[in-house]
Amino acid sequence: MHARHYQLGMVGLGVMGRNLVLNMADHGVAVAGCDKDPDQVGALQREAGDRPVGGVNSLPEFVATLDVPRIVMILVPAGPAVDSVIRDLLPHLASGDLIVDGGNSFFRDTDLRAKMLAATGIGFLGVGVSGGEHGARHGPSMMPGGSPDAYARVKPIFEAIAARAGGEPCVAYLGAGSAGHYVKMVHNGIEYGLMELIAEAYDLMKRGLRLTDDELHAVFARWNHAELSAYLIEITAEIFLTQDTRTGKRLVDVILDEAKQKGTGMWTSENAMEIHRPAPTIDMAVAARDLSSLEPERVAASHVLCGPDPAIRSDRTAFLAHLEGALYAAMVLTFAQGMAILAQASRTYDYGLNLETVARIWRGGCIIRAALLDKIRAAYRARADLGPRCHGAGARPPGRRVAGGGRGDSDARVRRLARVPRRVSQRLAARQPDPGPAGLLRRPHLRARGREGRLPHRVEPWLTAAGRTASPGPTRP
Ligand code: 6PG
Repeated sequence: MHARHYQLGMVGLGVMGRNLVLNMADHGVAVAGCDKDPDQVGALQREAGDRPVGGVNSLPEFVATLDVPRIVMILVPAGPAVDSVIRDLLPHLASGDLIVDGGNSFFRDTDLRAKMLAATGIGFLGVGVSGGEHGARHGPSMMPGGSPDAYARVKPIFEAIAARAGGEPCVAYLGAGSAGHYVKMVHNGIEYGLMELIAEAYDLMKRGLRLTDDELHAVFARWNHAELSAYLIEITAEIFLTQDTRTGKRLVDVILDEAKQKGTGMWTSENAMEIHRPAPTIDMAVAARDLSSLEPERVAASHVLCGPDPAIRSDRTAFLAHLEGALYAAMVLTFAQGMAILAQASRTYDYGLNLETVARIWRGGCIIRAALLDKIRAAYRARADLGPRCHGAGARPPGRRVAGGGRGDSDARVRRLARVPRRVSQRLAARQPDPGPAGLLRRPHLRARGREGRLPHRVEPWLTAAGRTASPGPTRP
């Protein structure tokens, strides 16, 4: 340990904690790290080299080296571990100190912790951090919530280490209480939804069109250079070329078809239902993960439920064009569901969220970063009324009115593409191994009332505000 005082202390030197420390140190912040595991402390010290970084096992020793009032960031697995660290820290901290929880904590836990700490005069921030190991090291997207005063203390550090998109840091104060962890939870819900959509598109190409892994790589790589450009599409393209070192085969062909979850997507679905905001893509993505883990049942079912041949015999080029459009439409809808949840949560929990800010800080560093977020951000910027209020029951966005009282439809291309899943579904119904998120790529369940394939109206303002062509739609009663 350097004989000095540190600006910030990090408890938990696993992958995320260690890389955030190194990122901070690269930006001139003196950071002390603490972990019960001496190997983790050793790894930090080795990687830190000459940077202004200290590392210890002892919590009292660690706290004693921090500048007062202290800032202690915690990066440990969500749940009891966070409470345990806070309990251990408390005897060594004083009123005016600040604890920052950078893990994937459940937002209700964050509220309880903030309340408990407020009674001791210790500040608390709940901060969602997205981007995995690479993001932590080179620039994550950060979603802080809590008191503005507490945020002011870490703002310079967070703005220095966060990813940048269009010259702006991908971090901003989001709102009161558990706002940061709530936004991160919904980020992860969207992440689950997008991943499942990609998996379904893959399935249609793999089993339907019988594309090879090289062809699948080429399709996703091409998509990533157009409207669908997104981090998850980019890494999907890469996975098809990745080899399993043990077998020499492509990794995607040997990896188990079972997906676990840490729970953030499930929390998003649960809370969306609690606040009455439908999130069908996210719900079905969670269900698809659960279904994937029922391997014996799936194997048994596969011997009994023999559907028709999954081969798709349409023109391959035309099918891929339709699929690209359907996936794009489904991604738009997934983000729309997430934003609608945030809008309602902001009212329910008094977060004071600014959805333009949320879209802005998701444009870089995080797992759901996508070109589409530029349009979503631009739409919220152009139309402040798209914020929380306009999603409320009875509060209609002042969208374009058309003859007959209907609002302007979204752009023609997305509308047309939304019909594709129905056509695809007619051929593929009963051939799928699981319900998938359903259907956004297969059945038009988002068609509420009105014409076939109509997108839910919340999407329209984004698209029109982003310069897309509006065309008349049916009257919404
Ligand atoms: C991120 C990720 C990361 C992780 C989630 C979801 O934003 O960097 O969301 O936090 O992927 O914990 O994990 P599961 O998919 O295992 O639930």
